[in-house]
Amino acid sequence: MGIKVFIISFILTSLIFSLLYIPTQLTRPITIFKPSKSFIIPKPSNPFPVTFAYLISASRGDTAKLKRALLVLYHPANYYLIHLDSDAPETEHQDIAKFVSSEPVFGQMGNVWIVGKPNLVTYRGPTMLATTLHAMSMLLRIAKWDWFINLSASDYPLVTQDDLIHAFSDLPRDLNFIQHSSRLGWKLNKRGRPIIIDPGLHNLNKSEIWWVIKQRTLPTAFKLHTGSAWTILSRSFSEYCIMGWDNLPRTLLLYYTNFVSSPEGYFQTVICNSEDYKNTTVNHDLHYITWDTPPKQHPRSLGLKDYRRMVLSNRPFARKFKQNDPVLNKIDRELLKRRRGQFSYGGWCSQSGKRHNTCSSLQGEKYGVLTPGTGSRRLRTLLRKMLSAQNFNKRQCK
Ligand SMILES: *[C@@H]1O[C@H](CO)[C@@H](O)[C@H](O)[C@H]1NC(C)=O
Ligand SMILES: *[C@@H]1O[C@H](CO)[C@@H](O)[C@H](O)[C@H]1NC(C)=O
Ligand SMILES: *[C@@H]1O[C@H](CO)[C@@H](O)[C@H](O)[C@H]1NC(C)=O
Repeated sequence: MGIKVFIISFILTSLIFSLLYIPTQLTRPITIFKPSKSFIIPKPSNPFPVTFAYLISASRGDTAKLKRALLVLYHPANYYLIHLDSDAPETEHQDIAKFVSSEPVFGQMGNVWIVGKPNLVTYRGPTMLATTLHAMSMLLRIAKWDWFINLSASDYPLVTQDDLIHAFSDLPRDLNFIQHSSRLGWKLNKRGRPIIIDPGLHNLNKSEIWWVIKQRTLPTAFKLHTGSAWTILSRSFSEYCIMGWDNLPRTLLLYYTNFVSSPEGYFQTVICNSEDYKNTTVNHDLHYITWDTPPKQHPRSLGLKDYRRMVLSNRPFARKFKQNDPVLNKIDRELLKRRRGQFSYGGWCSQSGKRHNTCSSLQGEKYGVLTPGTGSRRLRTLLRKMLSAQNFNKRQCK
């Protein structure tokens, strides 16, 4: 009798505990699109030499650009996380979710996700940085990759993913591509001293950053660095920033909460003040970006007349582009061998025997095949130059 009561109460308590436990298990951070089980990956592990984890962020009105960017950048070796600003209308969120879930290849490979609980992103505010760190942390949790790449829907690649994977395959995996400098110039007074508050941290609706009347002194506990908001970060450095076993990334994040345009300085200042990581920086952002003279607040939009210089720059990415600018079709045709609405050319999707290359679906037997082209040669030229003895160490954290 005693044992029976004990067993029943034991069952009841375990039931209650498991019920209490389930809700915590269900706070899944991401929207996962169920992969269809029909396709069986030939090898259990990823057969590609290196893999990239992409964050592609977009805001209100960007959905057409976002869809095109995703198709152009897609490769089964990589991982893609999409962040659409929570300020975008519900119809745009649904449009993107529908697009991602209806592309059969994404479903087969299960490597495209949407941030299910998106953030409100304030222009020049720390909510932008929070979104990037949020994405890094999700991607670290769901997949094994070598580099994290942060792009927006207005960026476009100038090489195929086969080119990128091939060109990066013989690089040390700990390199971080972060353009940086400690010569702040006008930014010393315009960035280092002002204090701002980003209402996006505590309000539901979007508004501009607030400027606090008082200013602060320049830091003495660490050295400020600044640079490009576009970076390619190693897995190791991403873990360092997210896990924070050293307190530097965390204290700097708190400091940068009140800093104008924190994405242009956070990773630069963290890496250059870290003994363990500063020797891993490559002082370049791998983007082709041009400014008006004198520079305006935003970079110039690129067009057909920039095409030649873009290609000659050997850089793998360029920004920014207007939606459906004719130069994008030229890039598709000549650099990516991509047809409208399809993927960029790659070994994984090329159909043998077809007179014209079409890349619209996974060719099971080609999974793992890389077909790099001239883009890989161009990129390797640039990488060799950046990693040469006269550039690499000499340009670190100066
Ligand atoms: C990441 O990419 C976005 C583009 O959407 C950019 O605005 C942002 O500043 C980037 N960098 C960081 C560190 O968040
Ligand atoms: C936020 O914006 C929505 C839609 O524009 C509006 O209905 C709502 O009242 C706003 N809320 C606040 C607190 O301002
Ligand atoms: C980084 O490079 C400097 C100068 O080359 C060297 O003195 C230092 O030991 C290196 N640090 C690490 C952690 O490798």
